[in-house]
Amino acid sequence: MNSIRELLANDHRHCDDGFAEVEQAVRKGEWDKAEAAFLRFRDAVLRHLDIEENVLFPAFEDRTGMRMGPTQVMRNEHAQMRDLLTLTGVALTQRDADEYLGNAETLLILTQQHNMKEENILYPMCDQHLSADRDGLLTILSAGIASTASAGGGV
Ligand SMILES: [Fe+2]
Ligand SMILES: [Fe+2]
Repeated sequence: MNSIRELLANDHRHCDDGFAEVEQAVRKGEWDKAEAAFLRFRDAVLRHLDIEENVLFPAFEDRTGMRMGPTQVMRNEHAQMRDLLTLTGVALTQRDADEYLGNAETLLILTQQHNMKEENILYPMCDQHLSADRDGLLTILSAGIASTASAGGGV
């Protein structure tokens, strides 16, 4: 991986795959499988949001001085995504397929729009403005994502 965009867009795909796995299990009524897949999916998403908020966005904000710009919009959307993760988790615990699928649909649309903005606008801006720090940042970001991959492996 030699760009922030490539690394984090790949992690978006990893999270998308996990989300699809939960939905498949819910539609088949395989609740134990759905819950296990959901825990892996939620863990991957929360780690992704955390590394953006704690590593990438502060680096971008410090370098550009833009604190109320695109990163603030992304942080607000992360808050909505966390709320929807909570709602989907509750529906899953209650084994309520309709409730799960309704909230999951909202989360999916929000996530798709959010990821598109990051991949097309914010990540390229990060690659451009943070080029001097890129290697160090990629190492830290990769470590956060690698822990996600190993947590989900072999299950
Ligand atoms: Fe994000
Ligand atoms: Fe992201």
